[in-house]
Amino acid sequence: MYKTLLTDLSDNILTVTINRPDKLNALNKAVISELGEVVSEIYSNNDISSAILTGAGQKAFVAGADISEFQGLTKEDGQTLSAKGGEIFFRIASSPKPIVAAVNGFALGGGCELAMACHFRLCVPTARFGQPEVNLGLIPGYGGTQRLTQLVGKGRALEIMLSGRMVEATEAHVMGLVNYIVVEPNELLTKTREILSIINEKAPLAVARIIECANIAVGDDSDFGGFLREQEAFGECFATADMQEGAAAFLEKRKPKFKGM
Ligand code: COA
Repeated sequence: MYKTLLTDLSDNILTVTINRPDKLNALNKAVISELGEVVSEIYSNNDISSAILTGAGQKAFVAGADISEFQGLTKEDGQTLSAKGGEIFFRIASSPKPIVAAVNGFALGGGCELAMACHFRLCVPTARFGQPEVNLGLIPGYGGTQRLTQLVGKGRALEIMLSGRMVEATEAHVMGLVNYIVVEPNELLTKTREILSIINEKAPLAVARIIECANIAVGDDSDFGGFLREQEAFGECFATADMQEGAAAFLEKRKPKFKGM
């Protein structure tokens, strides 16, 4: 049914696996569009009580938005891209049914943002988190500036986003970015399913309201100005020479030369 996602529904838990392992499950237009469809399915299918998002292969959850689709985009294209992804990620965050990220490797850029849009996160010891957009002359565009700040606090979030560095699983655990590190990678989905099985026995209407109120507590709201400013600023980066240089340098596997213009 989906081209870029694998889905499995058992015990009322839908497991969604982003399936582009040769490109480290990078979010291209097709994946983003299908994520939108699967979120609609989670909302509307009464047989689904909760869902897990994970990535195919051993190496990556999602290594970010697909950088090969960035070249030649205008400011308006960038804003449209950010608004579309942002709307889908917001529907994940505000889903009345729990959606949990099982982070099986790199969760970078849009991958970290996808994991953060989920209600909570588990990971393997080799998982790496980060918002490396600044290395491309870009900023996080799928809610990362807002949700990372909500989750780990402003000082930590700024240091991570401004340096573009990777955060190891143990550090991510200490700062509250992940709830559990599952030592045995093969048991990541089993542990995630165990937690969701407990939640699935609770009253669905109460579960939905707890999620709604927790989102209000941290301002995880699509009308919240920070998200809108992020979409606009993400687009602005596409009008800079530095961003074009950053994307080209990544694809040419070389260091970018930024000029501040
Ligand atoms: N967009 C498009 N392609 C990507 C990608 C992305 N975000 N991340 C990885 N890939 C592709 C690589 O281009 C490569 O493709 P190729 O085999 O056709 O050359 C393939 O996935 C494997 O990645 P590679 O870089 O060779 O693996 P690595 O182990 O050397 O490095 C990472 C892994 C995650 C450190 C590195 O891929 C990376 O830095 N990715 C980009 C992360 C990022 O900046 N994300 C934010 C984007 S806004």
